[in-house]
Amino acid sequence: MSTFTPPKQVVVLESTPELKSLMSIIRNKDTARGDFIFYSDRIIRFLVEEALNHLPFVSKTIETPTGFKYEGLAFQGKICGVSIMRAGEAMEQGLRDCCRSVRIGKILIQRDEETALPQLYYAKLPPDIGQRFVLLLDPMLATGGSANKAIEVLLSHGVEEDKILFVNLISAPEGITKMVEAYPKVKIICGEIDQGLDENKYIVPGIGDFGCRYFGTL
Ligand code: URA
Repeated sequence: MSTFTPPKQVVVLESTPELKSLMSIIRNKDTARGDFIFYSDRIIRFLVEEALNHLPFVSKTIETPTGFKYEGLAFQGKICGVSIMRAGEAMEQGLRDCCRSVRIGKILIQRDEETALPQLYYAKLPPDIGQRFVLLLDPMLATGGSANKAIEVLLSHGVEEDKILFVNLISAPEGITKMVEAYPKVKIICGEIDQGLDENKYIVPGIGDFGCRYFGTL
């Protein structure tokens, strides 16, 4: 789909027939809202599971009911989610489905009408976020302006750059390049990388406006 070679910070989900078929549903302009939500949620679940796979684990031996030992692993550390409003909120349930009672903060960023720069309007984050790995949630990485601003906010709250995992369904090469240049220690977990942006900064071939399709505000 894209000739762009992603940098090492980017993890793209394996392009299985299953993932391709789900992407074909949500990318289709004729898909009804109920299906859009259902199949987006399924991809979000894959993404969250993949992101969790990139967190630190330590060896842990347990005993099974048969009395035998099992050489296993246990997650080491604490996590939280942070959604970039509004579209990122669509990814919160997928995180909750995998991590029971996970803490989830929110950040609202909007483009300033005069300067055209991303402006922080609201942030509510777990007070101990500086001790946590953060799954930063936003379905579409387009120009990277809002996502980079959100990362700036996380860093200003004491989060370590290499503890941020940016989780998204579809990335544009422009957004990836901007994020990796500014924050090379952030890991990007994405479903697919598209060709680029159109003149309105929509990702192409893309999905349209994810938030409007998910929340029914088209
Ligand atoms: N946000 C969206 O919802 N879609 C795009 O294509 C880009 C940003």
